[in-house]
Amino acid sequence: MVNIAVLGYGTVGSGVVEVINTNHDSINKKAGQEIQIKYVLDLRDFPGDPIQEKIVHDYNRILEDDEVDIVVEVMGGVEPAYTYVKSALEKGKSVATSNKELVAKHGSELIAMAKERKINFLFEASVGGGIPIIRPLNQSLTADEICEITGILNGTTNYILTKMRNENREFDEVLKEAQELGYAERNPAADVEGYDACRKIAILSSLAFGSQVDYEDIYTEGITNITAKDIVFADQFGYTIKLLGSSKRIDGQIYCMVAPTMITEDNPLYSVNGVFNGIFVKGNVLGDVMFYGSGAGKLPTASAVVSDIVDEVKHLHTNIMTTWSSRKLELADIKNAKKRFYVRMEGARSEKQAEAEEVFGAIQAVESEKVPGEFAFLTEEMSEKEYEERAAKIKGIVNRIRIGR
Ligand code: HSE
Repeated sequence: MVNIAVLGYGTVGSGVVEVINTNHDSINKKAGQEIQIKYVLDLRDFPGDPIQEKIVHDYNRILEDDEVDIVVEVMGGVEPAYTYVKSALEKGKSVATSNKELVAKHGSELIAMAKERKINFLFEASVGGGIPIIRPLNQSLTADEICEITGILNGTTNYILTKMRNENREFDEVLKEAQELGYAERNPAADVEGYDACRKIAILSSLAFGSQVDYEDIYTEGITNITAKDIVFADQFGYTIKLLGSSKRIDGQIYCMVAPTMITEDNPLYSVNGVFNGIFVKGNVLGDVMFYGSGAGKLPTASAVVSDIVDEVKHLHTNIMTTWSSRKLELADIKNAKKRFYVRMEGARSEKQAEAEEVFGAIQAVESEKVPGEFAFLTEEMSEKEYEERAAKIKGIVNRIRIGR
């Protein structure tokens, strides 16, 4: 029998308990041993709930109990999670976590600590909710040099953008719905400003390229500037708007960013809708692979956490290698990245198109009865820097969105 302790009885923590209880027999069979939840750490009490008998408020009880082999950290946030996880590893306990803030910030250090002690620090649920992506990057795609990872990595914003497009609804109203469904972060800015997707692409990039990608270095733009007007014009051009986290190797340099991006039907991420996440990976020998599934929510996330617990039970005194060194990877300046841009402008197309052409060169422009007094156009390919220089020469730009491949 292997004893585990769950830190946090919130959405994911209660999901972990539910998954272990529901699939008890098959999970134990796959793990090769019985998994027993010995403690659940939470500040609160849950009178009347059977979980109450396992609730403890003092982390030291878990830390000092040599019978606990695995600590499951599902509290979220960097502290106290970092202190708790570090002390668990120091005590020789493996850790499974869903905490992307913790992994993005301290992943390389915690991985190294686990390796030294021949235990494990696993974090499948930190990216893509229930989608297996960390394990494939670590174990299945090892023959390849990764050239690109591009993903819809945040379920809340994908849910919002999908609803805005399909149901013609307002941003705030849909955000509220996503929060009620348990997808959103406690602080909605983490989702809508792109910070959550930023941490996730930092984790994936660090694993794919084997060195530390600091999330603070990643250019990040959220979806708060996306309006119904942009959705109308995007539709007219045959595009949909997705919040993409992307890391690409171009001429030996890594370009990494998070930004709303317009993509066409040819892009495999086009049909990833609602709370679903999709992650596209390109390897130099494998070519393209896509990972798709539930990117947020209690049970999908818990399913990924429990898969890590099972792996840790199977490898109690063996470290499962993770290639993520603490050596910092210097990212390329995205100002040199080239792409096409969508631009929405104030004014009638008949009056302003010529001026826009003078500044941007050849453009493809449209107007719509649904958006009176404005028009939109697509530029040819240019660097971000070149776009900014040109855009500064013309008045009336209301929004611009990058065009993806
Ligand atoms: N708030 C996150 C999302 C939860 O919406 O994707 C899963 O990490």
